[in-house]
Amino acid sequence: MFVSLVLLWFCVFFVILQLWPKRPKNFPPGPPALPILGNILHLRIQNPLEDLERLRKSYGNVYSLFIGPNLAVVINGVKAMKEAIVTKATDFAGRPQDLFINDVTHRKGVILVDYGTSWREHRRFALMTFRNFGLGKKSMEERIHDEIQYIIKTLDKNIGKALSPQVMFHNAASNIICQVLFGTRFEYDDDFIRVTVRCFTEISKITNGPWAMLYDTFPFIRKLPLPFRKGFENVETLRFLLLGLLNEHKKTRVPGEPQDLVECYLDEMDKRPDDPLFSDEQLNRFAADLHFAGTDTTSNTLLTGFLYLMNYPHIQERCQQEIDKVLEGKDRACFDDRHNMPYMQAVIHEVQRVSNTVPLSVFHCTTKDTQLAGYSIPKGTTIIQNLTSVHNEEGQWKYPHEFNPENFLNDQGEFVKPDAFMPFSAGPRMCLGEGLARMELFLIMVTLLRKFNFIWPDDAGKPDFTPVYGVTLSPRPYRMKVQLRSSA
Ligand code: HEM
Ligand SMILES: *[C@@H]1O[C@H](CO)[C@@H](O)[C@H](O)[C@H]1NC(C)=O
Repeated sequence: MFVSLVLLWFCVFFVILQLWPKRPKNFPPGPPALPILGNILHLRIQNPLEDLERLRKSYGNVYSLFIGPNLAVVINGVKAMKEAIVTKATDFAGRPQDLFINDVTHRKGVILVDYGTSWREHRRFALMTFRNFGLGKKSMEERIHDEIQYIIKTLDKNIGKALSPQVMFHNAASNIICQVLFGTRFEYDDDFIRVTVRCFTEISKITNGPWAMLYDTFPFIRKLPLPFRKGFENVETLRFLLLGLLNEHKKTRVPGEPQDLVECYLDEMDKRPDDPLFSDEQLNRFAADLHFAGTDTTSNTLLTGFLYLMNYPHIQERCQQEIDKVLEGKDRACFDDRHNMPYMQAVIHEVQRVSNTVPLSVFHCTTKDTQLAGYSIPKGTTIIQNLTSVHNEEGQWKYPHEFNPENFLNDQGEFVKPDAFMPFSAGPRMCLGEGLARMELFLIMVTLLRKFNFIWPDDAGKPDFTPVYGVTLSPRPYRMKVQLRSSA
């Protein structure tokens, strides 16, 4: 009797010990974790930012967390960040494959695909296609300017009034990437775009939200009809909408004369008929990835930009003076004009710095056993880049905690880009839409500021600059008053 009791105790003890999460040897430190739960109790699920700041203060710039049973390392500060994603680039270029969002997106596309052939080929394909296009007869700049005309039309209708710019900027960003992908834009009340934008924003919020965290922590709840199902439904809706669009292209395209990215992809499929990497299903997810990545990011950056410009009218005015001077006699701005607009450049970069649009980047994963800041990190560890920590880092910026374009100007008033500026991340996984995004931000902001004044409405109260938390940060909804500038 006594012996079997002791044996039973041993067994129980042994099982608990096995379940108890342990950090590997010389792993970055972090709070002790519980079996199954990991560190979930250390974080307030609705908005973990403050808790994470506390952890960083106790454990340093490189610390670790258990997300359920999985280990994650959080990287803060420019030094460790560069060591990981630039110096040891390929070691850190993977993507975790066992999260909510992987299941939702079926492990296809480009953004969340692990380091390997499919990712590399799709990335290369996208970059090459973006570069060659122009696309068909029109340059990328022209496509952006075309869309700006629709923004102007919307603003013209609201002169003297206060409008909510959220939907307008979301649709504009979405249309620009749609021009590149599908060769078409959509009216702002079109069903395709309305449903797509809604699905995107919902997925973005769900993915960083409490239900996804529970999904990642408790594998056994994954099949249950809980709110995270919405993510799966939305992706299915998107897939179905895209299917229609892609089938249309198949009917109307002229092989060898692609007019947009989808038609380039279909040509590529013709060239490699037996290659499973380039397939209809891949194209569907790939197009959705590019559309998604190009919509919420650019539009939230623009929204933050105008929020700040309205509340710092002297900065808005100085932009306008520079724009008027450089564009005098020209009917519109081109991207090359940025070289003559150091102040405008500084403002746009400062907007990107404070808007921090993708605060935790996209999660990376180590592709082999490696080292960081003297710690050992095994293959398959989730890596969370805290881009916010870099953009606010003391010692890297003249004014880390305020909105001030001087952060990007030297004593001579010339534009300079500090090392710690990395809203697009860096290394092999760096945002592949950077070129497009920068062109959009410049042309849209310059063109609109040249023609309009943007004014914080009298009845709007004090502005709230704290963003809404998600994969992408968005400013709280606001209204802006539009006035035609007399000089333009
Ligand atoms: C202001 C706008 C934008 C910001 C701040 C932004 C930021 C980012 C960031 C932080 C990442 C993660 C990089 C990493 O994992 O290290 C990323 C990835 C990506 N972005 Fe952007 N992005 C923007 C616009 C765009 C646009 C317009 C596109 C157009 C297609 C795009 C396409 C992508 C894609 C495909 C990836 C995944 C790259 C990969 O995994 O290899 N982004 N972006
Ligand atoms: C990222 O850095 C910011 C600023 O230092 C901090 O407030 C936030 O909690 C950090 N997030 C994580 C995940 O460590």
